[in-house]
Amino acid sequence: MIHVSGLTKAFKNVSVLRGVDLDVATGEIVALLGSNGAGKTTLIRILATVCRPDAGTAVINGHDVATAPQQVRESISLTGQFAAVDEALTGRENLVLVAQLRHLPDPRGVADQLLSRFALTEARDRRAATYSGGMRRRLDIAMSLVGRPPVIFLDEPTTGLDPQSRLEVWQLVRELADAGTTVLLTTQDLDEAEHLADRIAILHRGRIIHSGSPAALKRLLPAAEIEYVEKQPTLEEVFLALVGSPTSNVGSPTSNVGSPTSNVGSTAQGE
Ligand SMILES: Nc1ncnc2c1ncn2[C@@H]1O[C@H](COP(=O)(O)OP(=O)(O)OP(=O)(O)O)[C@@H](O)[C@H]1O
Ligand SMILES: [Mg+2]
Repeated sequence: MIHVSGLTKAFKNVSVLRGVDLDVATGEIVALLGSNGAGKTTLIRILATVCRPDAGTAVINGHDVATAPQQVRESISLTGQFAAVDEALTGRENLVLVAQLRHLPDPRGVADQLLSRFALTEARDRRAATYSGGMRRRLDIAMSLVGRPPVIFLDEPTTGLDPQSRLEVWQLVRELADAGTTVLLTTQDLDEAEHLADRIAILHRGRIIHSGSPAALKRLLPAAEIEYVEKQPTLEEVFLALVGSPTSNVGSPTSNVGSPTSNVGSTAQGE
């Protein structure tokens, strides 16, 4: 559903993307991980036809972003890193507006259905300016679901949400994917990537340096041992090892936890 090959992008002479390759299958949830400034938002913006790449190709739902941007826009929705609701409008008006822009037959019906699904029915006639951060986020995501696009891009969808709202968003994204929607999301939250994503792609120094299921990524590093209890590396440790954090100490998992066998040995000798 998403096919990206050799994508590059530089701003002035700063090269941000240096050859990104990424494929996402229909109904798959892929989490794009990367440090601040790695280029996640830039990649999402290129795929959503908001900005142009310097080189490479990106094909969404069979349409090339360079030659068929209009068809791409009909296939996608973008929920940006910062909520894009119109604060002067009510929640309901925001949704009706998007439904009208998408030329749907029953904009008010579509809006009411989404308001109810996102627990915003009570607040529907209040201006979005009076909504809490979580309510705004829910409205923002609801707006991106108007017209059921087959591909949705979510740039840090749960940043700033409380744990309960975060779980609700996860559940929603999962339901969407189960119904066949393809989801590419970015996150700084490794827990989110682990729980939500079918696959994690790590963007580092302008390229996808690793892509795999959360379990497969964890298998990249050996389990550390602490007195016979097998400890799996966390995804955070795998991530930091892959991007080469100077503070990372997971390169030698046994070196910092002592040697369980020698402890046993010395006990035995002492007896
Ligand atoms: N329009 C622009 N003009 C100039 N530089 C830009 C522009 N957009 C992005 N950049 C630069 O490109 C780099 C990547 O930015 P981007 O927003 O894609 O990173 P990100 O991975 O989304 O980071 P974050 O996790 O902080 O959201 C940054 O160095 C940023 O300053
Ligand atoms: Mg970003």
